[in-house]
Amino acid sequence: MFSSLAITAPFLLAGLQAVSVDAIQTISAVGAKFFYENGTQYYIKGVAYQLTPDDPLTDEAQCKRDIVRMSELGANAIRVYHVDASADHQGCMDAFADAGIYLFVDLDTFTTAIDQTSPHWNETQYERFGAVFDEFQQYNNTAGVFVGNEVLDTAEGSIAAPYVLAAARDMKAYRDKKGYREIPVGYSAADIASLRPMLQNYMACMPKAADRLDFYSLNAYEWCGESSYTVSGYDELQKNATGYPIPIFFSETGCNTPAPRTFDDQAAILGDDMDGTWSGAIIYEWIEETNDYGLISYGAYVTNAAATNTLVEDGYTRQGTPTPVSPDFSNLLSQWATLNPTGVALSAYTAETSTITARTCPSSTADGWAVDPSSSLPTLGQTYSKDSADSTGTGTSGSNSTATSSGSSSTSTSKSAANSVMVAGNLATERLFAVSMLLTGAVGVAAFWL
Ligand SMILES: *[C@@H]1O[C@H](CO)[C@@H](O)[C@H](O)[C@H]1NC(C)=O
Ligand SMILES: *[C@@H]1O[C@H](CO)[C@@H](O)[C@H](O)[C@H]1NC(C)=O
Ligand SMILES: *[C@@H]1O[C@H](CO)[C@@H](O)[C@H](O)[C@H]1NC(C)=O
Ligand SMILES: *[C@@H]1O[C@H](CO)[C@@H](O)[C@H](O)[C@H]1NC(C)=O
Ligand SMILES: *[C@@H]1O[C@H](CO)[C@@H](O)[C@H](O)[C@H]1NC(C)=O
Repeated sequence: MFSSLAITAPFLLAGLQAVSVDAIQTISAVGAKFFYENGTQYYIKGVAYQLTPDDPLTDEAQCKRDIVRMSELGANAIRVYHVDASADHQGCMDAFADAGIYLFVDLDTFTTAIDQTSPHWNETQYERFGAVFDEFQQYNNTAGVFVGNEVLDTAEGSIAAPYVLAAARDMKAYRDKKGYREIPVGYSAADIASLRPMLQNYMACMPKAADRLDFYSLNAYEWCGESSYTVSGYDELQKNATGYPIPIFFSETGCNTPAPRTFDDQAAILGDDMDGTWSGAIIYEWIEETNDYGLISYGAYVTNAAATNTLVEDGYTRQGTPTPVSPDFSNLLSQWATLNPTGVALSAYTAETSTITARTCPSSTADGWAVDPSSSLPTLGQTYSKDSADSTGTGTSGSNSTATSSGSSSTSTSKSAANSVMVAGNLATERLFAVSMLLTGAVGVAAFWL
């Protein structure tokens, strides 16, 4: 026994260290920031990646072709809107990990997304969200999950906010019950002026952390063409996010009118103006398609593609050699190359986290925010009912909820439609990452192991 231990232990240690040099570090949310395991702050330079509507993370060869270009671009994250929980993602996820690229993935699918008009959060959604979580928690480069994308996409949508938050609460509890690592659970919000900053504050206002998001993110297209920090309104976004208790970032950005895109907003987000508060940005999007947001094309527009040609959808080829869209791709590359915020070290930041406080829950307003700050979150299985007697707006803990606000005509269809055309991808510097891990990371990671 003793001798076998004596022999095994050194091998075990050596083995662990060898693994930690190769392995990608997990990302954690601490206070209002993201950190690598080695205590360095993590800033997102991401791209929305959805080559195919159902799941872009099953084609390893394609992921690898795209990763080369993503690494050239300087990306360290992708966002994927839809995945098939039952598919095999190992090849793509490992390839992204090797390149130092993290995944932010939406847990909802086309049929399970929370609906804005008559919201509910039920067992079917819970199980399906959980299945996506089960699949992606196994990968250390899963950096975060979203419980929804633009669930509220009109000014009348606030009645759905408690349902989004209930989903986050339950997915956090699910994660913890299953013993998964603390993968941050967040939400990706549409940028609706009249709901700001109420929605943002609501998502981080509950007394218990278990009832708050782990991160909040915004799809913002306010900075268009030649603009500035103040003209774009980013200064206002910054002002209203100052002191926010959880990480906040842009989950989509990259206004494309007027063309070409210069991505000047990246210098604000990843520079002195905002990098003390915001954790970076995800550019919409990787693949060029009808909406003309692509950084990459896989071929010219195809008219009259044969119905049997599954590589072409909506006239755009969705597989093959990634060719940069000019000059957008190189413009973004140039921006990101100069932007390397270092932020704060976890060791220095930890003490500060004791001063972090939840936001104040926003009061309901007659013309916009229809959520009563004092009502409790919906329970699993609850359905919103505007006909109900009381007028709390959020739904109480009973079997149904109530509100004065009427639903809007918009539905989650618009979200699904938007998502179905989304494609993106990104890559990271495989070589650089490996080298930096060897040179610097190994020390931190080894320390972590000890
Ligand atoms: C994932 O990271 C953890 C440390 O956080 C480590 O123990 C584990 O070995 C890693 N897994 C892989 C597959 O690299
Ligand atoms: C949840 O709601 C969906 C409709 O969005 C419905 O199809 C499904 O049956 C519901 N699940 C349960 C358990 O009620
Ligand atoms: C910032 O918050 C104020 C209210 O506190 C609000 O009037 C303003 O519209 C918000 N700005 C943005 C850009 O959300
Ligand atoms: C909502 O719940 C109340 C009592 O909790 C009940 O009287 C009412 O019928 C319910 N409404 C709906 C639409 O289920
Ligand atoms: C921590 O890891 C990151 C990602 O590999 C790296 O960029 C950074 O330099 C490392 N920090 C330290 C202090 O080793």
